[in-house]
Amino acid sequence: LLNINVAKTAGFCFGVKRAVDLVYNEVQNGSKVYTYGPIIHNEEVVSDLANKGVKVIEDPEELKTLPAGTIIIRSHGVSKELQEKLSSYGHKIIDATCPYVKKIHRAVSEKSGSGQHIIIIGNQSHPEVQGIIGWCQTISQDGTSYTVIENEEEAKALNLPQDEKICIVSQTTFNYKKFQDLVEIISKKGYDIFVLNTICNATEERQTEAYQLAKQSDAMIVIGGKQSSNTRKLYDICKKECENTYYIQQLKDLDLNEFKSYRNVGITAGASTPNNIIKEVHTVMSEKSFEQLLEEEKVVKINN
Ligand code: F3S
Repeated sequence: LLNINVAKTAGFCFGVKRAVDLVYNEVQNGSKVYTYGPIIHNEEVVSDLANKGVKVIEDPEELKTLPAGTIIIRSHGVSKELQEKLSSYGHKIIDATCPYVKKIHRAVSEKSGSGQHIIIIGNQSHPEVQGIIGWCQTISQDGTSYTVIENEEEAKALNLPQDEKICIVSQTTFNYKKFQDLVEIISKKGYDIFVLNTICNATEERQTEAYQLAKQSDAMIVIGGKQSSNTRKLYDICKKECENTYYIQQLKDLDLNEFKSYRNVGITAGASTPNNIIKEVHTVMSEKSFEQLLEEEKVVKINN
């Protein structure tokens, strides 16, 4: 019999749920709604919103010519400059930046404002990191206000004036262990360092649960958008512990035949995966176990 365990922390985190709810609420209020970039990395949700008339804006200039409406900033947040630009065309603005990301914006603004060099541990091309960069003020000693570091080589190569005061923050979805390793490398350089662990608990908890579940499973299903970096990380964690780990976006990507030989299957999902997709996969997998049970009964009967 197939034993299926769904991670309790699978799916929407608090910040993403809040942002998505804000968009649906605004649609229900009858406003013309624009989101700056897709509200989450999930094609199903984005296309459902598109059907309800929500338009994704890629360039703030587009707002100039669009009918009056509401522009919603997604949970990743944006730079200060961009926020001002988005607010400048007369539309109502709703800032759905996750409060945990907002906290980083406030910290880097304050610390860089008092002359500290900001080190952001994360992926420079991720919109959240781009947003954080945009809250750093450029008044530190050497004229540059921030450095983004993603790996050991970059941490080792860091070369700032020895008396530079440094504040280290992290992209909220960064791996905790990797963050600690990079902070350790930087700490050895002898700078005056202030570390703010801004990794979100939702990510940490989801990663820990995925790791534990993968360890005790014959197969793991990780559900999430292909563009979602936190889902990719979940997949990497699970794959290390469980060879038979499958990365799917939705139910149709799953080949149920591959699950014939498994007994314990774990399911987890990235922060932007809606609950209905997780439920759908769970339900179908459960039906599968029912089929298998029937087959096994048949075998018993024949043997008798
Ligand atoms: Fe916020 Fe954490 Fe989610 S930072 S958007 S609650 S992953």
